[in-house]
Amino acid sequence: MPVRCEQTPAWARLQGLQAARRGFDLRQAFAADAGRAAALSQEAPYLFVDLSKNLLDAEVEQALLQLAADCGVEAKRAALFGGESINSTEGRAVMHWLLRTPAGAKGLAPAAAAELPAVHDTLDAMLAYAEKVRADHTITDVVNIGIGGSDLGPQMAVLALAEHVAPGKHFHFVSNVDGHELAGVLKGLAPEHTLFLIASKTFTTAETMANAQSAKRWYEQSGGTDIAGHFAALTTNVEAARAFGIDTTFGFWDWVGGRYSMWSAIGLPIALAVGAEGFRRLLAGAHAMDEHFRTAPLANNLPVRLGLLDVWYRNFLGFTSRCIAPYHSALRRVPAYLQQLEMESNGKQVDLDGRPLAVGTSPVLWGEPGTNGQHAYFQMLHQGTDVVPLEFVAVRRPAHSLEGHHAKLLANAIAQAQALMVGKADAGGHRHFPGNRPSSFFVLEELTPESLGAFIAMYEHRVFVSGAIWGINSFDQWGVELGKVLAKDLEPRLASGDVQGLDASTAQLLGRLKQD
Ligand code: F6P
Repeated sequence: MPVRCEQTPAWARLQGLQAARRGFDLRQAFAADAGRAAALSQEAPYLFVDLSKNLLDAEVEQALLQLAADCGVEAKRAALFGGESINSTEGRAVMHWLLRTPAGAKGLAPAAAAELPAVHDTLDAMLAYAEKVRADHTITDVVNIGIGGSDLGPQMAVLALAEHVAPGKHFHFVSNVDGHELAGVLKGLAPEHTLFLIASKTFTTAETMANAQSAKRWYEQSGGTDIAGHFAALTTNVEAARAFGIDTTFGFWDWVGGRYSMWSAIGLPIALAVGAEGFRRLLAGAHAMDEHFRTAPLANNLPVRLGLLDVWYRNFLGFTSRCIAPYHSALRRVPAYLQQLEMESNGKQVDLDGRPLAVGTSPVLWGEPGTNGQHAYFQMLHQGTDVVPLEFVAVRRPAHSLEGHHAKLLANAIAQAQALMVGKADAGGHRHFPGNRPSSFFVLEELTPESLGAFIAMYEHRVFVSGAIWGINSFDQWGVELGKVLAKDLEPRLASGDVQGLDASTAQLLGRLKQD
């Protein structure tokens, strides 16, 4: 039977520490300990993180590390890198990390070593294709059609690496089944200059299939005749792509979860944007983080420390949400990307055996880039009644040369973290800032393919760690199925008006939205 975190000795100890620290105050903690900033900071590949403005201390961290030991985090990490079928409800291994493992790497578990040559064959083929398309100046527009993990990662990374993108190609991302989205993109396109990438792990997702059909129809109706030259499929289901009429395909494997797939053929838009070398640099950054996570002692292991902090906040301090504010506009899709990564992975209510959990799991993750957020939701972070831990992401070196902007941006990021913590006690009532509000502060020296890869891989592993403590399967997503089934039932009813067997509210809405 799997270990239940709430039944471990460390859990009880943490409950005791939580009770003992009810009045914990960051300002006093800094005053009492000159070494606090250093002790609660961490270097990891391409990243520096200051965790010292969080509501914990050395004793709590020790107890959290004990919790990791009690919950078998090291053994679970070994199972991840050992290629074991840790996605138990689907009987699959979880090896997205292998997609960024260098060719010929030694010391891999047999299950991983067996797959590595195919990983590199596919990667080489995909990158050769990317370079060919990059050199083809007749292709001016690339339209990625995919949703969830087949959209958010490539979209986030293409935006994030905009400074590394060769000019001459425009990238469009169509995910929603809402036809306004595809129609809006198609409006500006010419078939002979457009490449469609149909990105779907399963090649069955309703939204993607509808958009792919419409794109193909548009292409043919606009006079296009070369499907092989203008459509490519990125999928584990190559037969379905062929049946759909696409012969240019790049495959991947069932041991890559959709939300962990930007490193696979799903990353083709990224490779088209930043080139083969840029894509390899992204993989290298992620691999460096994999190695850090795999080998660093738990006490100095960034994803472990963060995952444990997440558990402390969720289960002991009762914080149900976390905000992420990247202070870099190129990182503006990072919150949406991380939302899927964390909430689809850890939004679970049963343990590995399917038994109801006794503890809370995934927090709500949300956020917007700074400084924009400061003029919108930060009011609530400073003076609202709920405490929401905030994560800043700052990049030291800008990629532009506009005078003064970057110092203003960074000053704002640091000031917000400072304000959240120190507060302002001398003014009462409406002008009172309680302070003692927690934040973490991530620093990237520069926004490069490597640092982006490392940052995202760090988050993947962090989500793994909290999921490992909670004893859940972070790699399935059964919760998305019910709505899909019901939508299938309702679609024909929208035309027929048949409300038989429906509850009164659903019937009413169907009547309101009935299509003539
Ligand atoms: O419905 C959820 C989901 O399965 C995600 O996990 C996934 O990233 C997305 O749909 C898209 O799936 P696919 O790549 O198979 O089209």
